[in-house]
Amino acid sequence: MSSLFSAYSLRELEFRNRVFVSPMCQYSSRDGLPNDWHMVHLGSRAVGGAGLVCVEATGVSPEGRISPGDTGLWSEEHTQAFKPLASFIKSQGARAAIQLAHAGRKASTDVPWRGGKPLSEEQGGWQTLAPSAVPFGDWPAPREMTRDDIEAVTQQFADAARRALDAGFEVVELHMAHGYLLHEFLSPLSNRREDEFGGSLENRARFPLQVAGAVRAAWPEGLPLFARISATDWVEGGWDVEQSVQFSRWLKERGVDLIDCSTGGLVPGARIPVAPNYQVPFAKRIRREAFVATGAVGLINEPEQAEEIIASGRADVVFLARAELRDPYWPLHAAKRLGAEAPWPVQYGRAAG
Ligand SMILES: Cc1cc2nc3c(=O)[nH]c(=O)nc-3n(C[C@H](O)[C@H](O)[C@H](O)COP(=O)(O)O)c2cc1C
Repeated sequence: MSSLFSAYSLRELEFRNRVFVSPMCQYSSRDGLPNDWHMVHLGSRAVGGAGLVCVEATGVSPEGRISPGDTGLWSEEHTQAFKPLASFIKSQGARAAIQLAHAGRKASTDVPWRGGKPLSEEQGGWQTLAPSAVPFGDWPAPREMTRDDIEAVTQQFADAARRALDAGFEVVELHMAHGYLLHEFLSPLSNRREDEFGGSLENRARFPLQVAGAVRAAWPEGLPLFARISATDWVEGGWDVEQSVQFSRWLKERGVDLIDCSTGGLVPGARIPVAPNYQVPFAKRIRREAFVATGAVGLINEPEQAEEIIASGRADVVFLARAELRDPYWPLHAAKRLGAEAPWPVQYGRAAG
């Protein structure tokens, strides 16, 4: 019996297995709208047998996008454009998820294959927002958010969650990782505020928790809500695993069902000990100490490796990113290697074996 290919439930939603396709920016939208690329890219991964397919970091507002090529969900037009995508993912037996994001001080950049550097206004860039006017490395300084900004962005997340539901998504993941806006509030390295949104851990967590609460209120009781966090900044004096454990407990109290445990991204130049499973200990610790379901992510490439993470109880699910880019049928191939039944689409039955 494979643990990786055992079904899993959160709230009223059952996943056919525990291989989840990690959100991956494609930088291929115009005006935030998903298009044929997203359908083929995400659709192939649903055909490939994953338990869940998550749409990339999707801006809750135009200025919340990392680049002008990001997907967004700030209008009814976006809702309509996402409908066929969510519908196709579900038609293949995968669960349809979307990651909602605001890029904060790391917004307004060019797409990676053109260098990924900040865009000037003439190049189509915009003023970025952050908890404090502290730039990311030598990038342009963001504008410190006012209380009105904080309320407005909270509302944008809740509105985007409502649109995600209308579009047919079954899981929302809040992007609180990788140095984007919500992570910037958490980390003392980027949050220098002196009001109730800065200083103590409680204060730094206030805005991200407010967003989680507002999204939970807008999202049906029966459907799961995930949060991706960076469990550590990998920098002395920054955000760390102890704070992540406490924050995860608070997220759970706000109705977050699974913590997707990534790391890093807040400051340039952090020394990260990248190796297979390097982020798994964070998923394990948060699962054990915050009593919440976790997802492990990062250099999980081999079926036996993924199986062992689940079987040993270090995480409830695994998120795969680059392995899924290399092979959209990773779950079908992994099931075979692990002796589990592979969810081949009927159309491909003659190739299954
Ligand atoms: C092309 C690409 C785009 C990514 N975009 C996102 C994203 O939109 N949101 C996110 O949380 N992580 C994003 N990531 C990070 C992945 O989800 C994942 O956490 C990371 O790649 C480590 O997993 P891996 O070793 O399986 O690739 C991206 C990674 C890649 C390779």
